[in-house]
Amino acid sequence: MRMYDLIIKKRNGQELSTEEINYFIENYTKGNIPDYQVSALMMAIYFQKMNMRETSALTMAIVNSGDVLDLSKIEGIKVDKHSTGGVGDTTSLVLTPMVAALGIPVAKMSGRGLGHTGGTIDKLESFKGFSVEITEDQFINNVNTIKLAIMGQTADLAPADKKLYALRDVTGTVDNISLISSSIMSKKIAAGADAIVLDVKVGDGAFMKSYEDAKELAQAMVSIGKNVGRETIAVISDMDQPLGLAIGNALEVREAMDTLVGKGPQDLLELCLTVGSQMVLLAKKASTVEEARQMLLKTIEDGSAIRKFKEFITAQGGSAEQVDNPDLLPKAKYVVEVKSDRAGFVTKINAQSLGLIAMELGAGRATKEDVIDLAVGVVLNKKRGDKVEVGETIAYIHANDESRIEKAKKDILKNYVISPEAARNIPLIYDVIR
Ligand code: URA
Ligand code: CA
Repeated sequence: MRMYDLIIKKRNGQELSTEEINYFIENYTKGNIPDYQVSALMMAIYFQKMNMRETSALTMAIVNSGDVLDLSKIEGIKVDKHSTGGVGDTTSLVLTPMVAALGIPVAKMSGRGLGHTGGTIDKLESFKGFSVEITEDQFINNVNTIKLAIMGQTADLAPADKKLYALRDVTGTVDNISLISSSIMSKKIAAGADAIVLDVKVGDGAFMKSYEDAKELAQAMVSIGKNVGRETIAVISDMDQPLGLAIGNALEVREAMDTLVGKGPQDLLELCLTVGSQMVLLAKKASTVEEARQMLLKTIEDGSAIRKFKEFITAQGGSAEQVDNPDLLPKAKYVVEVKSDRAGFVTKINAQSLGLIAMELGAGRATKEDVIDLAVGVVLNKKRGDKVEVGETIAYIHANDESRIEKAKKDILKNYVISPEAARNIPLIYDVIR
């Protein structure tokens, strides 16, 4: 087989066989095929597209390019959850203890990543002593005993995706549905999931800017799941404004804990109940969405969700004191109000820009080497649809560096769109694709 022939075949709009896809992924991973040939193939795929058979074959080829986590020693159906990424998205911190409190095993491998705030692991490190440096045996043991564990990525999962994604990033070939969907699904499958719930975000703070694109991506991932024997459900949800109120690591941990005791923002709770009930269904612990939703709500009401959270934090070395008293979490030196200079209704909050503002305050990494400031970020006081008077507080800046406050203030004001009339209502949940 020659890579050259595969490029010509796809360039001419023909289908690639599974053998051909396996050949190119295997040899690219080993370093036997140069980047320039793979970029040519990526561009051919970008224009000529791949069908679902090719996309599913590509997914499994990427899965098989590295280790596949063996979670067979964990009893029960392992349901994983993945979000395509949003600003202030605290759902994992809320959902995992709620679902685990129902006896469903949650075994998560997480990364740190770049972006407006840290990843789930960074956020959890707001707890003194908390560590994800646990062995695979401890990980499996914790899931079997308390139903919830999170470990840092140690195994060499989907190495082909790392190379491909980096190459696509610099060759204008990221936004192709087959390439995105296989990239996301391969990582979940390699991490050992039996079933997967996806939260596909749509809006200006998301990867997919339109509902049509988000739906196409969701459908592609659900089909891959079906083709490779991992039942998959996708929720399509709004990211045209930040989710919840907090953007920042310790701030989001606090928001998550508030939500676990029934005192969190409504939109965050609603999304957690929607995504969570699909997880409960896939784990076969409920037979209807309504039943699953009631079960999840009960974990908040009877305190089992927050107890599970505490059990999980302490099992991985974290401070129980900080769970009992969130005031002990990292705190910023300065908390500054941002006051509106206009009156009207909030019609838009630019999610992407708010994320960047939090990052500039130190909440996220621009490069892998950057150190995160866990305490800083932004807490919204007004959301879309809210009425605002002149001088009313629309948000709070949490900062440790005084010199960054003025710019953050200006940027926040610029990114709140306040209009005389309330805008049409944008739904939080657009769709559930199964
Ligand atoms: N996220 C991924 O993991 N892969 C893509 O290709 C795009 C977004
Ligand atoms: Ca939030």
